[in-house]
Amino acid sequence: MKGLILSGGKGTRLRPITYTSAKQLVPVANKPVLFRVIEALKDAGINDIGIVIGDTGNEVRSAVGDGSRWNVNITYIPQEAPLGLAHAVKISRDFIGDERFALFLGDNCIEGGVSKLLNGFAASDWNAQIVLKEVVNPQQYGVAELKHDGSIERLTEKPRTPRSNLALVGIYMFDQHIWEAVEAIKPSWRGELEITDAIQWLVEHGYRVYPYVHNGWWIDTGKRADMLDANRLVLEELEPRIEGYVDRDSQLVGKVTIEAGAEIINSVIRGPAIIGEHTRIVNSYVGPFTSIYHHCQIEESEIEHSIVLEHSEIVRIPHRIEDSLIGRNVQIHTSPMKPKAYRLMLGDNSDIGLL
Ligand code: DAU
Repeated sequence: MKGLILSGGKGTRLRPITYTSAKQLVPVANKPVLFRVIEALKDAGINDIGIVIGDTGNEVRSAVGDGSRWNVNITYIPQEAPLGLAHAVKISRDFIGDERFALFLGDNCIEGGVSKLLNGFAASDWNAQIVLKEVVNPQQYGVAELKHDGSIERLTEKPRTPRSNLALVGIYMFDQHIWEAVEAIKPSWRGELEITDAIQWLVEHGYRVYPYVHNGWWIDTGKRADMLDANRLVLEELEPRIEGYVDRDSQLVGKVTIEAGAEIINSVIRGPAIIGEHTRIVNSYVGPFTSIYHHCQIEESEIEHSIVLEHSEIVRIPHRIEDSLIGRNVQIHTSPMKPKAYRLMLGDNSDIGLL
């Protein structure tokens, strides 16, 4: 089986964090979601992986490279515009050929990997397999209605009034019949070739589509609350590892990972938490469910349940920072300058909550 990862599109829902960069490269527990997807495919025995790329293609290429880091072969498939998931599949036909393949959205994380699922599909006579998950906000997803016998009645993309709470998780498996489907469907009201419509086409034409209902966690990292949730869930599973320097006056409590070159000086880190490479934490408190990425500086400040991306600095902040997603190269500090005032330089669509 081959793997196909969709990493094109626009990251507009995570603006400004991904205004100019690929949302699939935003790290969860200090590892880009896209790397987690590659690892999930590799663990399931897939070595040939195609990645569909769009506007942010150069960034994806330079982060992932040729795949040798994971011992997989990566083929990049440029998509001229985000014309839909089924369009991205359609342009990947030469790469896939007539093999069965697994399709992954590059911003999805699920608990437990996909080895069992993929092996089950490879050994079956199903034409396609979809993964479903009960959610509280089905209108934000593709939604599946099942019949009494568990087979698929209908799939609808982001319905206004969902008829079930089963969302389509961004993991799909297909055989060669998907090519007929993606050729046959027409763009939806939002102008995209929807993968949901292609699967509905398979169902209507008598092909066997198996709906697997996933019970563990699943996160679509395209939204801020989801990023923090994903971070929390992945941190809980992380095996603690201390590769950086922790001085004698510091205290690490619970599951804490300190990556190489990081320095913890006179600080308390309460896990689950991860401190990235070459990050310095000085006279500070880092609380549970926090990921600080590489080359950051946290000084005389407190932060918990948050994500801080690379090269950011948080210095002498008098109140604890919580539930925050802080981008790259961000500087947050108190200033002695008069008059006493907030001095902000915030990007478009920023969202800050002051005391
Ligand atoms: O997250 C699960 C949902 O993903 C499913 O429930 C929906 O049925 C499915 O349509 C999809 O909805 P989203 O609105 O979340 O899709 P999004 O536009 O965020 O794109 C998902 C990934 O695919 C993302 O990594 C970008 C990439 N992509 C997207 C489009 C539209 C492409 O590579 N090319 C594209 O043309």
